[in-house]
Amino acid sequence: MTALYCVFGNPVAHSRSPDIHHAFAAQRDDDLRYEKREAPLDDFAGTVNAFREEGGLGANVTVPFKEQAFELCDAVTERAGQAGAVNTLWWDGDKLHGDNTDGAGMVKDIRDNQGWAIQGKRVLVLGAGGAVRGVMGPLLAQAPTLVRIANRTEEKAAVLARGFMDGKNPPVLGSGLDNLSGQFDLVINAISAGLHGEMPTLPEGLLAEGAVAYDMVYGSEPTPFMVWAQQQGAAATADGLGMLVEQAAEAFEIWRGWRPDSAPVIAGLR
Ligand code: ATR
Repeated sequence: MTALYCVFGNPVAHSRSPDIHHAFAAQRDDDLRYEKREAPLDDFAGTVNAFREEGGLGANVTVPFKEQAFELCDAVTERAGQAGAVNTLWWDGDKLHGDNTDGAGMVKDIRDNQGWAIQGKRVLVLGAGGAVRGVMGPLLAQAPTLVRIANRTEEKAAVLARGFMDGKNPPVLGSGLDNLSGQFDLVINAISAGLHGEMPTLPEGLLAEGAVAYDMVYGSEPTPFMVWAQQQGAAATADGLGMLVEQAAEAFEIWRGWRPDSAPVIAGLR
């Protein structure tokens, strides 16, 4: 029987997840159908339950439902707990499980696909919204020297940073965008404004010699953040297309029990 999965979002029409999961499934003739489901803003839980009754085995969750999905789960992984958000759902009997594969996907793309080190590096993260919270746990697990979170609303960066200062993690510090200082080896952009072609003004000289820059969003052209980083002398830049595919691969493995090859899928989407 064809295994049924979907992605829940609102809006969701733009999602590339069906293409990605169908490409994964084709690698081993895995019989799988993956659909887009737009959940109404006021009835995420009802939409999830209806999908389950239809025979759905699992789902991805995108904006704006990741926090609601977290609340709905009966059990979540440690990294989903750190994120306070869930992007991958599956059922075990009647029990709804949740994971968050965004951080693992980003780390895999940065480290394995781009070949950039995180361990021992000074990391600057721009933004302090849900996207950042979603990746902080896996990022810190890579043992960077420090992570500075810089955000337009400084208080949000400070609160987020404090939540990850536990004595075991590398130091995490918050600051505003305008009073930002220091030099960094890896800069990660998670300011959603990057999506709309704007890039906030940042101080000069943030990039250390050989620094690299990663945008969590992707596009057909280099993003405004990537252009900024190149102007600032970055040694390399990348957008988040690889992260999108890697977080999907991580979810696919949870559901199907085998790890798809992400490289040809990234190349195909490009
Ligand atoms: P996401 O899931 O993409 O993280 P979010 O939780 O709404 O979405 O967070 C959006 C992030 O982009 C925040 O860090 C936000 O800064 P504020 O916390 O100050 O709102 C940032 N952002 C959005 N528009 C921005 C802009 N024009 N300039 C700077 N930062 C911006």
